[in-house]
Amino acid sequence: MKSSLVMARLLRVLGGWRSYCSKRQQERVSDDFVETLKAVVGEPNVSIAAAVREQHGHDESMHRCSPPDAVVWPQNVEQVSQLAALCYDHSIPIIPFGTGTGMEGGVNAIQGGICFNLTRMDRVLELNADDFSVTVEPGVTHKALNSYLRDSGLWFPVDPGADASLCGMAATGASGTNAVRYGTMLENVINLEVVLANGKILYTSGQGRRFRKSSAGYNLTGLFVGSEGTLGLITTATLRLHGIPEATVAAVCPFPSIQAAVDSTVQILQSGVQVARIEFLDDVMMDACNKYSGLTNAVAPTLFLEFHGSNQGLREQLQRAEEITQQNGSSHFTWSKELEERKQLWAARHNAWYATLALRPGCKGYSTDVCVPISRLPEIIVETKEDLKASGLTGPLVGHVGDGNFHCILVFNTEDADEHRRVMEFGKRLGRKALAMNGTCTGEHGIGLGKRQLLKEEIGPEAMETMRQIKAVLDPKNLMNPGKVL
Ligand code: LAC
Ligand code: ZN
Repeated sequence: MKSSLVMARLLRVLGGWRSYCSKRQQERVSDDFVETLKAVVGEPNVSIAAAVREQHGHDESMHRCSPPDAVVWPQNVEQVSQLAALCYDHSIPIIPFGTGTGMEGGVNAIQGGICFNLTRMDRVLELNADDFSVTVEPGVTHKALNSYLRDSGLWFPVDPGADASLCGMAATGASGTNAVRYGTMLENVINLEVVLANGKILYTSGQGRRFRKSSAGYNLTGLFVGSEGTLGLITTATLRLHGIPEATVAAVCPFPSIQAAVDSTVQILQSGVQVARIEFLDDVMMDACNKYSGLTNAVAPTLFLEFHGSNQGLREQLQRAEEITQQNGSSHFTWSKELEERKQLWAARHNAWYATLALRPGCKGYSTDVCVPISRLPEIIVETKEDLKASGLTGPLVGHVGDGNFHCILVFNTEDADEHRRVMEFGKRLGRKALAMNGTCTGEHGIGLGKRQLLKEEIGPEAMETMRQIKAVLDPKNLMNPGKVL
C-alpha cells in the first residue's frame, strides 16, 4: 500500500478517536449536573462556553491545553464545600484555579472535570499588624495584598514574578526573588483553610490560629503547601508579614564569566552580608532583558542584588559586597537607592519570562527549575550552557542563585517535533544532573504534569508510596486535580 494511503487511513482512525474522546468528555458532565452547580453558585457563576473552558485548560507553560467540562466561580467557602461534595457524589474531577500563571501544567484538566476558579473570593479577611499576620481569600494576589498593606509598615515578600494569587502560591510552594532572605511560601504560611474532595473543611493549624511557632502534631500546613491542588482546595491562607526595611538599595554588577558571578554569590552569602535578593542573568538573558525592558546593561553574566536594612547597616553591606565582586574580576558595581530605578530593574527581572518569549515570536516557553546545593551551582550552570549549545536550543538562564535555584527558559516551536523532543530531553537531563548533585528537579514551579518521573527518582520508592497513601486517605476517589504530581 502506498504510504500516502496508509497515512490517510491513520488520520481517519485518529480523527475518529479524537471525536470519540471529545464526546466522552462532553458526556461526562450532564446538563442536569450543570444545573445543580448553578443552583449552588447562581447562573452567572457557571460556564460551559468553549472559549472559557479553553482559557481555563492551561497555564503559561507549553503543556497542551486540556479544557475542563465546566468552570465555576464560587463566592465563599460554603459554596466551595457544596460544589466539592456534588463532584464527589458524582465522581467528577475538581481542578482548583487561581491566576493560571503556573509553569508546569498544574491547572490543565487532563481528565476533564470542574474547574473551580477562586478569584472572585478576593477579600483580605483579617489583618493583625501587631502580630505580623494576615488572612486572605484565594483571589487575593501578592500585589493586591501589598497595596492593601501600603500604610501599615508591613509587607509580604514572596514574589514569584507573575502577579499570582497567594493561595495558588501556597498550593505550588512558590518563591521567587526574595526567598534568599525571607523564605518561600513554606516558611510564610501559618495556617490554611482547606476544602477536601468530599466537601469537608479543615484548618491545617486549627481554626483561627495564628501563632509564630508550634509543635502540635503533624505539620498539615507543610503538607498542603506544594500539594498542587491534589489534596484539597485552599480557601484561605494566614500568612506571615514582615516589616518594611528602613532603607533599600539595589545594585547591578556584570562579570567576566559565569564562574565569577556565582563565586561572588557564594562568597557574599558566606561573608554574612544579608542580601534580600541576589539574581543571576547570563549574557543571553541580559541581552533579552535589555531589549525587552529598555535597559542598557553590559551584555555579560550579571548579578542583580538588593539589600534591606538601616542606612548605616546598608553602607557596610554594600561595601563588603562590592569588594567581593571586585576580587572576582568585576569592574562595575552600580547601585541606587532611588525607587524608580529600583522598580525598573526589578520589573525587567520579573519580565525575564516575557523577554525570553519575545526572542522567538510565535514560539512557546518551557522553564526548567532545578535547585542544587549552592557549592554545585557553578558546575551545573556551566554544564547547562554546554548542553544547550550541543542540543541547538535557545534558552537564556536566570536564577535565584542565592538559593541555588535557576531557570533555563527554553523557547521553541511546539509544531517542530524534533525541537520539542530535544527540549524535553534537555529538561530531563538537567533534572537528573541536579539529582546527581543532591539537588531537586523543582525549586519553586512544582511537579505538575511534566516532572512526575523525576519526582520518583528524587524521593525514592518508600517516600513515593507514602505520598500515594496520604493522597488516598485525603482523596480516596482520586478526584482532586488527578494526574498531577504522583
Ligand atoms: C522566574 C520564574 C520563571 O524566576 O520562576 O522568572
Ligand atoms: Zn523563578
